[in-house]
Amino acid sequence: MREAGQRPFPIEWVRRRFPAVRIAENRDPSFAFMDNAGGAQAPDSALDQMRRYFCERHVYHAGPYDQARMTEEAFAAIRRRMAHFMGASSPDEIVFGLNATTLLSLFSASLGQILEAGDEIITTCLEHEANVTPWLRLKSVGAATRFWKPRGPDGVLDIEDLRQLLSDRTRVVAVTGASNILGTVTDIARVAEVVHDHGAVLVVDGVHYAPHRRINIRRDSIDAFVCSGYKLFGAHIGFLACSRDLLDRLPSLNHYFLGDKAKLELGVQNFEGMAATEGVLQYLSDLAGESGIAADDLYDQLFEAIAAYERTLSEQLISGLNEVEGVHVYGITDPKGFDMRTPTAAITVEGHRPEEIARRLGERGLGVNHGHMYAPRVIEWLGLADSGGVVRVSLCHYNTPAEIERLLAVIAENITGVSVTSHVGAS
Ligand SMILES: Cc1ncc(COP(=O)(O)O)c(C=O)c1O
Repeated sequence: MREAGQRPFPIEWVRRRFPAVRIAENRDPSFAFMDNAGGAQAPDSALDQMRRYFCERHVYHAGPYDQARMTEEAFAAIRRRMAHFMGASSPDEIVFGLNATTLLSLFSASLGQILEAGDEIITTCLEHEANVTPWLRLKSVGAATRFWKPRGPDGVLDIEDLRQLLSDRTRVVAVTGASNILGTVTDIARVAEVVHDHGAVLVVDGVHYAPHRRINIRRDSIDAFVCSGYKLFGAHIGFLACSRDLLDRLPSLNHYFLGDKAKLELGVQNFEGMAATEGVLQYLSDLAGESGIAADDLYDQLFEAIAAYERTLSEQLISGLNEVEGVHVYGITDPKGFDMRTPTAAITVEGHRPEEIARRLGERGLGVNHGHMYAPRVIEWLGLADSGGVVRVSLCHYNTPAEIERLLAVIAENITGVSVTSHVGAS
C-alpha cells in the first residue's frame, strides 16, 4: 500500500522513456515484453549516450589527444557512478567485463589460484549455470563443491541448511541474489553474516536481482557481486563489484607489465556499453525525480518504489495464474512472502508442453520464454527436466496491469479453454 505523501508510480512516464516499448506498442498494441529476465529494454538516455560516444570519442582510450582523454575521463566517471550504484567503497572495486558469465569465470579462475586441495565451495540449486560451472571447475585444484537446496517448492533457501553445509574448510559461498526462474529473492544480508562467521567469501550472482532490488555490497557485506548491463536496461556488458580486501588478494589474470592494475579487466573494454550504462543511471535518477525521491539516498528509495510497484504486478499475476484451472505456478505463491520475490513467474500448464505454450503466447503478442533458461539445475530440482521445463513470464517496472490481464485472458481462453474475471488491482 502507498504511504501518505508518496506519489503513485509514474508508469506512463516510464513507458514513454523506453523507445522499444513505444515502438512495439504503436506497431501492435497487444504486444508486451514479458521476457525481461532474458533481456530488458533500454531507456532513451542509454541510446543517446551510446550515440554520443560513437560521435565524439570512439577511439583507443590511452592516447595523448582530446578524444582519447574524453574516453578515459568517461571511463573513470562511469566507474565512479557504478561504485555508487552498487554501494562499493571506491571506484577501484568495480570491474567491467563482457557479461556476468565471463566475469564469474575469470573471478573463480583467479580465486582458484589461492585455494588448496580439500577446500570447499558451496553453491545452490537455484543458480543460473554461470554461478555453478566456474566453481565445479575448481575440482582441478582439489576444491569440492556442495549444493545448498531449497526445502519446499517455493524455492526459499533456509539459512539453517547453509549452517549444516558450512565447515572449517568452506572458502566460498556462491549464491544467487534472485532466481531467474522462480523469482525467489535470497536474504543476502543474513547469508553474509553466517558466511563471514565461518571466514568464507560471499559471491552473489546479482543478474536477476539487480533490476528489482537495491544493491549495496558494503552495507550487505558482500565480497563480490556480479550483474549484467542488458538485464539492467542497458547494453551487453558485465559488472563485478569486489571488495578491495578480496581484490588485493586475487592473483592477476592480466598481462605481466600491468602489475596489479586491471587484474580481471582483460583487453580494451566495452566503452559503448559503458556509455549506455551512464544513460541507464541517468534514467534511474530521472525516475527518482519523477517519483519525488530526494537525491541523497536515491537508489534505496528508488528501488523501494520499483519493488512496491512490482509487488502489485506479482499480486495480480500470481493470483490470476493460480485461478486458471490446469496452471501450476512454482516459487512463492503466498502474497505474505511477496517481498521476497520478483515479478518473475515459472508456470506449467497441464496437458501442454512449455514450448507450445510459449509459442502460442508469442503468436498473440506476449513475449515470454520457456525451457531451463540456462538454469537447468532449478528445473531438475523441480522435477521438470523431462517435460520441457517451464514457461517463464518475467516482468519489470515498465509492465502494466493491462498487459497482465491480457496474458491471463489468453492463457485461460486460448490455452486452457476457460475464461477469467479481471485481476487488475488484485491483491
Ligand atoms: C541469474 C543469472 N545469472 C547469470 C546470467 C548470465 O548472464 P550473462 O548473460 O551476462 O552472462 C543470467 C542470464 O540470464 C542470469 O539470469
